[in-house]
Amino acid sequence: MTTDAAPLVSSRPEWAALAAHSTSMREVHLRDLFATDPTRGERYTVEVAGLHLDYAKHRITDETLDLLVALAEAVDLRGATQRMMTGARINVTEGRAVLHTALRAPADRDIEVDGRNVVPDVHAVLDAMAGFAEQVRSGSWKGVTGKAITTVVNIGIGGSDLGPAMATFALAPYAAESLDVRFVSNVDGDDIAHKTADLDAETTLFIVASKTFTTQETMTNAASARAWLLERLGADAGADAVARHFVAVSTAADEVAAFGIDTANMFGFWDWVGGRYSMDSAVGLSLMIAIGPDAFRDMLSGFRAVDEHFASAPYRENAPALMGLLGIWYGNFFGAQSHVVLPYAQYLDSFADYLQQLDMESNGKSVTIDGTRVDYETGPVVWGTPGTNGQHAYYQLLHQGTKLIPADFIGFVHPGAEVGVHHDLLMANFFAQTEALAFGKSAAEVEAEGATGALIAHKTFEGNRPTTTILGEKLTPFTLGALIALYEHKVFTQGIIWGLNSFDQWGVQLGKVLANRIAPELTSDAAPDLAHDSSTNALIRRYRTARGRA
Ligand code: F6P
Repeated sequence: MTTDAAPLVSSRPEWAALAAHSTSMREVHLRDLFATDPTRGERYTVEVAGLHLDYAKHRITDETLDLLVALAEAVDLRGATQRMMTGARINVTEGRAVLHTALRAPADRDIEVDGRNVVPDVHAVLDAMAGFAEQVRSGSWKGVTGKAITTVVNIGIGGSDLGPAMATFALAPYAAESLDVRFVSNVDGDDIAHKTADLDAETTLFIVASKTFTTQETMTNAASARAWLLERLGADAGADAVARHFVAVSTAADEVAAFGIDTANMFGFWDWVGGRYSMDSAVGLSLMIAIGPDAFRDMLSGFRAVDEHFASAPYRENAPALMGLLGIWYGNFFGAQSHVVLPYAQYLDSFADYLQQLDMESNGKSVTIDGTRVDYETGPVVWGTPGTNGQHAYYQLLHQGTKLIPADFIGFVHPGAEVGVHHDLLMANFFAQTEALAFGKSAAEVEAEGATGALIAHKTFEGNRPTTTILGEKLTPFTLGALIALYEHKVFTQGIIWGLNSFDQWGVQLGKVLANRIAPELTSDAAPDLAHDSSTNALIRRYRTARGRA
């Protein structure tokens, strides 16, 4: 690691220029911006990988964009992108390259880590996954009693769960109907108990997905799954049953073997794939089994289209860079604390859950890459659920609350299923919401409708709430890959500007260590000597007593 601390981005003249500009923009309303520039709605748009991104409803002008782009250039975002995509060890705290873009590189690319071209390795694993997925899908992969597999259970957590789980649901219309693909993640035994309650061990395949193969939740669930299987198939089935009903996805072959899974049934990936950037690696095996290898490769093409766009498009036309820069604008200069992602697509039900790890585990940091405490805000709180449901829950706060919450609206021209008038109604809401958030309803308009007294204030909508609209043709594997890559590179853009290492996650360690210390204190027969704070000690004692322990 370098010992020379780089200056904080907040000390750059480009930052000061944005701060000064934000003061003059604070009172500017989107109503005025649209009134003075009728071309705004056409000009502030970008096309990428079949997605139309409209960022006209943001509190920005050409000057704002110029200043934001100048900031990106000042921190050498382009150079940083090149370094990431060519295998430099930019994850300095773990000494690793960051090459999720190599997971979707075409076979003829040469991307080297320590002098080795990793692209052939990527394609070899993809081919192995495809071969296995086809066997499961066709029924030629048999369980130990000779029956075909009907249910696949992915056991993993964090990056080894959220991506494939999100995508398997998102792409349900593309999935094989004969296969049920489920996800178990929580160490709460209710998760695995519930998800296996109706399963037949003879036709169930478990995929144990863990980069490290040491994660407490995953290894506990994997051990319980093995016990569940052997209890049903008879202990005699032993190693054969494990061999036919368990496969692993990991970077740690020795740990996989130690668990009892034949490494011939392991699909590998590499330390240069971060967990939250791994759904397009072997971690996506469950997804590939669901949708098939061809659709999986279509998804990779979507990722790749956005990678190429991000690496080459000028920043004024660069969708992920603009998304990142707009987040900086509101987070650092308007005090926005959170960012809401609102897919008007029920199949994207867990898209925001996925983005939470991607964004918050990447940029939820308080020190720069060389360990200096930042004096500015970093990653936002990311949240969201599909529209229109949220409209009847928390949109009240988006429209009339005191907080500024920039929003991404994601919608599609064509539905998954054409059911009566549903899709047009969905999309009417989609377009209405960004219009309402931007332009609101003035007191004069409310009054003109006959409201009087205090009701005028209650019924007034200030507007000026910024939104990005992302409109795709249809939610396909290609589109989903493109959407995910958009957000990956948005997060990267922001991490580079804030000077963070977006690729480590030391913040998850302390809780893990303490949990490992507390676990035996909960289960020991004898009363443990507790040396925590008085609150934690009392809580542990109360739990032990309630569980009938000394
Ligand atoms: O606890 C956080 C984390 O390390 C994530 O970064 C990761 O995606 C998750 O745990 C699961 O890790 P693994 O794939 O090694 O089981």
